[in-house]
Amino acid sequence: MSKVQLADGVYWVGAIDWNIRNFHGYSTRLGTTYNAYLIIDEKITLIDTVKAPFYEQMRDRIKEIVALEDIDYVVSNHVEMDHSGSLPTVMQEAKKAKLITLEKFGESGLGKTFHTDWPLSPVKEGSELNLGKRKLVFIPTPMLHWPDSMCSYLVEDNILFSMDAFGQHLATSHRFDDEVGLDAIMPEATKYYANILMPFSDLIVKAVEKLGGLKIDTIAPSHGIIWRSHIDTIVKAYASWGKGENKQKVLVIYDTMWKSTEKMAHALAQGITDAEVDVKLYNLTESDKSDIIKEVLDARAILIGSPTLNNGMFPTVAGFLCYLKGLKPKGKLGAAFGSHGWAGGAVKAIEQELSQAGIEVVDCGLSFKFVPDKDEIKKCADFGKTIASRIK
Ligand code: FEO
Repeated sequence: MSKVQLADGVYWVGAIDWNIRNFHGYSTRLGTTYNAYLIIDEKITLIDTVKAPFYEQMRDRIKEIVALEDIDYVVSNHVEMDHSGSLPTVMQEAKKAKLITLEKFGESGLGKTFHTDWPLSPVKEGSELNLGKRKLVFIPTPMLHWPDSMCSYLVEDNILFSMDAFGQHLATSHRFDDEVGLDAIMPEATKYYANILMPFSDLIVKAVEKLGGLKIDTIAPSHGIIWRSHIDTIVKAYASWGKGENKQKVLVIYDTMWKSTEKMAHALAQGITDAEVDVKLYNLTESDKSDIIKEVLDARAILIGSPTLNNGMFPTVAGFLCYLKGLKPKGKLGAAFGSHGWAGGAVKAIEQELSQAGIEVVDCGLSFKFVPDKDEIKKCADFGKTIASRIK
């Protein structure tokens, strides 16, 4: 097994999960990696572990370099089990290892997850761990992605072990950005940010500012490729996403019962296209919600359509809006449309959800009975032009 080095004595010892297709509801069609790192110095340090079923992959990579019982420190940057799942086995094998975690949230998270008496060494903002010739400094990044999350910074090599931040769900045979290429990486980095980190955008802005004070030659996240050549690109993208910078782009997202709402959706999209603004259209039965959320990240307006079913929304639309609301998108305009039979209800319900998601709702009056006629289709197209002109 070939060894992957980030710097002299610093190794990637993680695992590649080629086949995962669903990561707690997020579609991972390109798989993922669980990145763990090993630092060989006077004190031998393992940064994070991997998801439990992948322990043997990690163990075999470590054993190529050092025996597990020689590990002095295990740093748990994050309690979530895709990174801590192998801790019970590692702590059994690495008998003398001290477990480093963020004070309070890391301590309680590990305690409540594993219910053991591991020797925990809690750290806080700026705590240093002397490894011999090098030292690690710990930087809490709460809520990126859990309260216990922190980054570890290897001072002498300017390596930031950034945890979930700057990651991507992307399984590849190469480990570094310049080996894989931005065209393959950025769509996955975008989707990852949109689905995992978007609710914490304000904290991202603060974290990027905080990390801006460090000299960074390598960003080693916990998923996907390691950044060593395109650090500026990913840091600038995070700064932009964190601020909620949007493009002139509208999404038309809908479901349909007897194609009436679908006709409205297509007319809206045509109006937007005629006004020369980018539009993307998604039927919620046919599309994956985490793919749509990737597009939501930088869209300026979101139009949501649903037929009325039992006085409310279609379940697919309700599910999507529930997911969207939790992600707290920034700086968006929204509108609702749909067809109904004898009584409506879906449009009002969608507007309420959009409003609760922090989206500025534009009243478009597009709630029509049964099958929309020519005039009603024209109203949809006209509103498409109106919303396009609002965002130009
Ligand atoms: Fe990759 Fe929040 O765990």
